[in-house]
Amino acid sequence: MSQLSVKHLLGIKDLTPKDIELILETAGQFKEVINRPIKKVPSLRDVTIANVFFENSTRTRLSFELAQKRLSADTINFSAAASSVKKGETLLDTVNNILAMKVDMIVMRHASVGAPHFLAKHINANIVNAGDGTHEHPTQALLDSFSIQEKLGSVAGKKICIFGDILHSRVALSNIFALQKQGAEVMVCGPSTLIPKFIGDLGVKVEFDLRKALLWCDVANVLRIQLERQTIKYFPTLREYSQYYGINKQLLDSLNKEIVIMHPGPINRGVELSSDVADSGHSIILDQVENGVAVRMAVLYLLAGNK
Ligand code: CP
Repeated sequence: MSQLSVKHLLGIKDLTPKDIELILETAGQFKEVINRPIKKVPSLRDVTIANVFFENSTRTRLSFELAQKRLSADTINFSAAASSVKKGETLLDTVNNILAMKVDMIVMRHASVGAPHFLAKHINANIVNAGDGTHEHPTQALLDSFSIQEKLGSVAGKKICIFGDILHSRVALSNIFALQKQGAEVMVCGPSTLIPKFIGDLGVKVEFDLRKALLWCDVANVLRIQLERQTIKYFPTLREYSQYYGINKQLLDSLNKEIVIMHPGPINRGVELSSDVADSGHSIILDQVENGVAVRMAVLYLLAGNK
């Protein structure tokens, strides 16, 4: 049986192209399973997984939990807001107490960059990074690649532009690594204040003009403005941001081309995307959410085989 080259999924940066291929291929098999009348397989019947979330989430947390249930794993959920973290317990003490209950795998979201990497040095269980601050969100990038492959036949050779708040986005960095490892061309587009200076060193194109970027790309992956991570003002007002970087139907129609619209969610409707684009035939946003379950099943299944 093929195996991943890693014990943990901390970031796309650590994966080989073969790892990504294996995860997407396995996700294809699980997508077939979750569309059957009986959506459950016994693959992880003896495995216990804790979802440890120190930051809010809708899609990622529910998708991991559903993936675990579809694989017949036992699953427990921890939310920092309702835990003894509020009484001062450390991250390592919290996780070690969870592991003492005979938990095999930790899925963790944390606001601090590198929190899952820190844990990986101190604990034995498999760790899946469900988003660490502004750093990486590997399963989001994998489900994005899976969705592009499903829609366009392949990722290799496609032109993908990531729009918006690149500076504060873990989705952007993980997508850049994943898409490049699969042979796509990648561009980022947004206001100069939201594009980090190092981005050119990663081999991506940088474009500040929304229309030019849309004319270039096959796929537009549109990101949310992360106001909760912005400590200073990066643009005058949301209205002005929307005027220069908001994608609406009138703009898309004027391009006279087919373009796939993606968004990791949650959407700020009327800011980076208008509703008539988010809900249009161009959009594969809800396919991304559906594919997230299959991709996370693949990640959990493959990591469980790499103890
Ligand atoms: N895409 C994503 O990470 O969404 P949530 O924050 O709702 O998990």
